[in-house]
Amino acid sequence: MKVVAVRDYQEMSDLAAKYIIQQVKKKPSSVLGLATGSTPKGTYQKLIEDAEKNGTSYAQVRTINLDEYVGLGQDHPQSYRYFMKANLFNHIDILKKNTYVPNGKAFNLDEECQCYEQLVRSIGVDLQLLGIGVNGHIGFNEPGTPFHSSTHIVKLADSTRKANSRFFETVEEVPKSAITMGIDSILQSKEIVLLASGSKKADALQKLVSGKTEDKFPASALKLHPNVTLIADYEALAKV
Ligand code: GLP
Repeated sequence: MKVVAVRDYQEMSDLAAKYIIQQVKKKPSSVLGLATGSTPKGTYQKLIEDAEKNGTSYAQVRTINLDEYVGLGQDHPQSYRYFMKANLFNHIDILKKNTYVPNGKAFNLDEECQCYEQLVRSIGVDLQLLGIGVNGHIGFNEPGTPFHSSTHIVKLADSTRKANSRFFETVEEVPKSAITMGIDSILQSKEIVLLASGSKKADALQKLVSGKTEDKFPASALKLHPNVTLIADYEALAKV
């Protein structure tokens, strides 16, 4: 895993956006794997600014998101589909039909997982953007998730619900489960860019860089992939 240290959140976002823009310029029909959370927000902002300023087009790009809360529809402000529309899709020339996010309100969730997994495998992700949870989760793959996992329903860890409760009125409102691409689904991507910013992620990065590769720490699976770049700021790298 290549590690690129940057000064702060802004620099991390600028660099991550550069990777994505380069990818799209090189291959206009790229498939981008996208993530939600506070971490990639600045990257998306940069992509929007660049599209406005330099006319970068996403008209042929397809995107596939990592995860979605079970039970939240696309009009729920905390759903990940809503997040993606508000923070990126509504502001660039991407076509809605080319953006995939799991359906958290699917009647048959098992079927939704199977279809999403088929999509991940057939679409071929060129570049996957990732954040990391405080407990090392990627997507919503909580500690203990097997590395060979495909898209599945996951019961969210208390620490994850607590960390994500900042976006909801109360922690009780945070859904108890989610659909997530599995670890093996994520590893199918040709290239992965993992982002981390701030002291809250310092322990997780310490474990990632120096710890064992084991399912107790999901992000460690990334060490099995040949083309991963970690872009992290000094605060997040403080314990590495
Ligand atoms: C969430 C998401 C992850 C994200 C992580 C970190 O639970 N499912 O995809 O990477 O938490 O979030 P943040 O970037 O807000 O710290």
